Order: sequence, then structure tokens, then C-alpha cells
Amino acid sequence: MSPDRFAALWRSLLPIGRVGRDGGYLRRSWTRADLDCREWFTEEALDRELEVETDGNGNLWAWWGAPEAGDAVVTGSHLDSVPHGGAYDGPLGVVSALLAVDELRERGATPHRPIGLVVFTEEEGSRFGLACLGSRLLTGALDPARARQLTDRDGVTLAEAMGATGEDPATLGADPVRLARIGAFVELHVEQGRALADLNTPVGVASAIWPHGRWRMDFTGEGNHAGTTAMADRRDPMLTFAYAVLAANKEARVQGAHATVGRVEVAPNATNAIPASVTAWLDARAADQATLTSLVDAFERKVTERAGRDRTGFTLTAESASPLVEFQAALRDRLAARLKAPVLPTGAGHDAGVLAAHVPAAMLFVRNPTGVSHAPAEHATDVDCALGVTALADVLEELAC
Ligand code: GLV
Ligand code: MN
Ligand code: MN
Repeated sequence: MSPDRFAALWRSLLPIGRVGRDGGYLRRSWTRADLDCREWFTEEALDRELEVETDGNGNLWAWWGAPEAGDAVVTGSHLDSVPHGGAYDGPLGVVSALLAVDELRERGATPHRPIGLVVFTEEEGSRFGLACLGSRLLTGALDPARARQLTDRDGVTLAEAMGATGEDPATLGADPVRLARIGAFVELHVEQGRALADLNTPVGVASAIWPHGRWRMDFTGEGNHAGTTAMADRRDPMLTFAYAVLAANKEARVQGAHATVGRVEVAPNATNAIPASVTAWLDARAADQATLTSLVDAFERKVTERAGRDRTGFTLTAESASPLVEFQAALRDRLAARLKAPVLPTGAGHDAGVLAAHVPAAMLFVRNPTGVSHAPAEHATDVDCALGVTALADVLEELAC
């Protein structure tokens, strides 16, 4: 695959959902931008004479060969983004999947297993808070009744958001028949760190995904006047929150893990009022479950103790948990050998990680020279992306042809 071929298809997707001066993306699921992305994918798949369908969970599928035959080799990723995220996280895997089909056809390859392309819904959890929503629903990892009630920042439920686009939220839920047709799943993704850049290698194969999760933090206090309330009389939840941010950072450093507070809501959010409440979210990740549990337990203990001193309320509620994923060794080693690619773990979550509990799954990473992700500076060169397409085509050929 030539870099120019990659660039032509890549550039056709780039304008959709790009916002603001920072060049970042707002592609929240079931919004106009997401619908435009879906339309783009559908057109591209139909142009390639693939059979396109949307499943009951809003995931998009395009088939080369009949899926009913089973033992399909499926590849794909997602098109939704984090708020003001980069262009590559998700879309690179989808564009590469389409181009890998072109490449296989140009090679004259004839698949003896069906090849499926998939676009999973709400992978980032940016709108409804729960990452990998589409793949969790498909695999039965998420109760559809709970999913329907998830709300976005404006209080719109997933059921309402889907309904507004003409999708039926009653169809959400486990899809064992579809899942049973998948014989292997391979997700190509931009690397979200600098390991490949440091190794001076364009493509890598995933070994594992760190266990990770999201926790909602509710801090409560007493709203009051900023000018007249004596410092000693205050019950200020912002103080407990500030302590929590520092405690998360310290605990993560001490335990060799990662902890982030990237989202906060303050009420009433007024310059001259002590807040009545603060709600924020903790994202925590570690190489193993014991470390992750220890980090979160220590964090909760310390913040609870601090809340006692501040005379504020603090509760920590788990909103999602993703266990350690170790990709199937046989598939991983087969792909790494075929591509002569290094094997590396990641701290980022992926639909492939959800699928891995049910089918042999693997991931390919494409070098990101900045190492930045979930931000506009996320990048991969056209040359590396084209090498990624070739690698994905090699993998599909290895597995399906
Ligand atoms: C998804 O990209 C995540 O790791 O949060
Ligand atoms: Mn992401
Ligand atoms: Mn992603």
C-alpha cells in the first residue's frame, strides 16, 4: 500500500467532527459527527461491495463473504473520539481495515474464511461514561437495562440518543449468535506511547492491556459566601477534591501505576461562592490487578480521612472495571513472527480487550512519533500508516486466505 493511497482515504474522513482551533475532534456517539462518520464508513464499504449491517447494539459491520459461514476473521476499531481528541485513535483501525481489503484484492487473495470489518460504538465512553460500550453489550459484559439508562452530560439517556437517530434501544444486549461467528479479532491502533518510536520500528504487536477502571468521586460540603464565611467555619468540598487530586498522583507514583483526574464538575461553579459539591472522575491503571486495587484502596482511605478533617462528604463509586488482558499467546506470536514486529503492552483500553475474553484477539500498533494520544498532537506518518495497512493485510491473509 502506498502512502498516497492511505492519505487519500484518510483525508476524506478528517474533516468530520474536527472542531475548534486546536484541531481536535468531537465525535461523540449518536451525535451528528458520529452519524456522518457512520455514513462515511457505509459508503466506503458499499463502494467495495461489502455487505453492510448495523447490529442491535449500534455497531457497524461490513462483510466480505457470508458471516453465517462462521469462523470469521474480523478487524476494525471505532470512530468516536474523546473530547478534543486526536484523529488517529480509532479511525486509523477502521481506515486500515478498508484499505487492507483493497490490498488483499490487489494481491488476488481469496479468503476461505469470511472477513468482517467492524466499527464499535462509544469505545471512548466520552458521551455515556462507559468505555467500550458497543463491544461490552455485544459480548454480554454490560446489562442492556443499565446501558439504556446511562446519561450524557445533558441528562440525555443512551436510549433517548439512539431513539433520536432512528435506532431501537430495545435491541441492545448480548448477541451470542454474532459473537460465535467470530473466529479471530484483530484491531489495528495508533500507538499511545513512544515505545515503537524508541525502538525505531513502525509496527508492533500487543502483549497485554493493563487492568484499569473509572471511579466517580462525590464531594459534598456547604455552599456559602466567599467574602463573609470565616475560614475556620467552612466545609469546602473543593479542598477535599484538591487533596484527592494530589493523593491520586502521589499514590500512583509510589505504586508505579497511573492515576488521572481529567474531569470535574463544580456546583454552583461561581467565583464568589464556596462550592456546595464537587463531582470528579478518577481513572486508574496498573500493570497488575493487585497494584490497581491497592492504589484505589489507599486513595480512598486517605481521602476519606481528609474529608473527615474538612468536615465534608466523600464517596467513591466504581463506574467501570476492565481486568488485565493478556492476548492469546499463539496468535500474538504468530503475528509477531509474520510481521517481524516487537511485542509490547499498553495502558490503554480497547474493544479488542473486551473481545479477548471470548475469541482469540490481537492488536497491531502503528508508531506515533509524538507518543501523544487523546489530544490533537496524536500523530502517525502516512508512510507508517501505509506500512500498518500492509501489515494488517498480511495478518488477514495469514489468517483468512
Ligand atoms: C481508551 O482509549 C482508554 O484507554 O481510555
Ligand atoms: Mn482512546
Ligand atoms: Mn481507541
